[in-house]
Amino acid sequence: MRHPHTPCVSLKLLTAAALVLAAVCPVRRTAAADGANASQTTNAARLYAKHCAQCHGQSGRGDGPRAAQLKARIRSFADCAWMAMRSDAVLFLIIRDGSGAIGLMPEMPAFDGQLNEGQITELVSYIRHFCLDRSAAGGGR
Ligand code: HEC
Repeated sequence: MRHPHTPCVSLKLLTAAALVLAAVCPVRRTAAADGANASQTTNAARLYAKHCAQCHGQSGRGDGPRAAQLKARIRSFADCAWMAMRSDAVLFLIIRDGSGAIGLMPEMPAFDGQLNEGQITELVSYIRHFCLDRSAAGGGR
């Protein structure tokens, strides 16, 4: 059951603010910021391994150990063409509210109880790194 009322509105505003900050902050790169980015990646990698890899696979190709039991065929995060059509805001929404939130097969749970907004934002940029391997682009269908 979803309640499309006030709590969601403020969450969405917070989300928008977080996304704006995420977009603006990388412009100001300093040695300290680079250090923070490095530890963020490690943190995001850990979160991914713990919460996501069981379905999405360690390499993001949708081939985790639980994927075979799902009805959905999970898209590969290494599919650059596909991922380019997904905005950060949509990826954030999927992770926070589950895959059903945007009409995908609802087998992926919402993570809003387990991950805070900062962690979800880190995961959004983390899953984008899978597509940097250009040789894997298009291999996810
Ligand atoms: C129980 C298995 C499961 C877990 C755990 C899981 N997902 Fe998913 N995920 C799915 C399924 C199923 C879909 C939707 C597949 C479909 O219908 O296209 C999906 C879809 C997605 C999509 C959208 C992909 C697209 O089609 O554009 C993203 C992004 C995503 N998951 C990220 C994550 C992240 C990040 C985590 C960890 C926090 C996670 N998922 C954990 C099963 C899972």
